[in-house]
Order: sequence, then structure tokens, then C-alpha cells
Amino acid sequence: MNWMPLLVMNGLLLVITVLLGVADRLLVTYGRCRVTIRRKEGDQSFDVQGGGTLLACLTEQGIEISSSCGGKGSCGYCKVRVVEGGGQILPTEEIFMSRQERSEGMRLACQVKIKNDVAIAVPDLLEIVRQMAVNNKFDTRKRWRVTVH
Ligand code: FES
Repeated sequence: MNWMPLLVMNGLLLVITVLLGVADRLLVTYGRCRVTIRRKEGDQSFDVQGGGTLLACLTEQGIEISSSCGGKGSCGYCKVRVVEGGGQILPTEEIFMSRQERSEGMRLACQVKIKNDVAIAVPDLLEIVRQMAVNNKFDTRKRWRVTVH
């Protein structure tokens, strides 16, 4: 079998992907964006340079978000509810979301690129796990499902 066309096609796709990534980094500026975290006890806001991921900016601000894949979009633990902004959910996120989570605006923080002002609600994971234990509903075979009110 001749592998050359396949190798050339994969090489071309790799070059295009790298060029798009470089162009996005160097040519596109989003300016300053306001990130607002909605909490029961009151909102918290801070400004960041647009273009980074929500997970990265929250981590820089000392706000802990669960993550076991380091922001690669493969663990599904970094769920937050996007209340305003954030754009459309990506196909890479949909596999981690139930229909209910999608309808509630849940997103993977590592996949949300900050391009404009955004408002989010961060799940209280300790309380979620506590409720799972109290209700005896923890099942390690199921995907991690989160609801933020
Ligand atoms: S950090 Fe793993 S999916 Fe977002």
C-alpha cells in the first residue's frame, strides 16, 4: 500500500493547524475582558487580557477549578455554568455534557476562550460530593454530572 498521499495529507493538515494557531495568537487581539463570577454571597469580577481560556484565567486568579487533564479537554471535570458570553458550546465539550447540562449553559472551562465579557457560576464540588454521599448516588461508572444554581 502506498502511504505517501496519506502522509502528505496529514502533513498539510498539521501545517494548516499550526498556521491557524500562530495567526490566532499573533493577529487576533480581544482586548481587556471582564470575567464575573456569580456567587450566592455576591459577584466577584476581574479584568483579563482576552484570548486565554477561562480555566487559565480562573487559575491565575486563585480560583480552583477541578481538572485532571491540565486543560486538554479530556477529563470533563472543569465544568462551570456560563451565564453570559462564552459563545457556542464546542463539539469537544458536548461529549461530557448531559442534555440538562447543555440547556443550563454548562461548559468546560478549559475549552471556553475569553473573547468578550463573560459571567459564570462555579459549582461547589464539595457540596455536590456531599450530596452524592448523603443520597447514596455516587456511581464511579457514570460521567461526572454537575448542576449549578
Ligand atoms: S481540564 Fe480536563 S476537560 Fe477541562
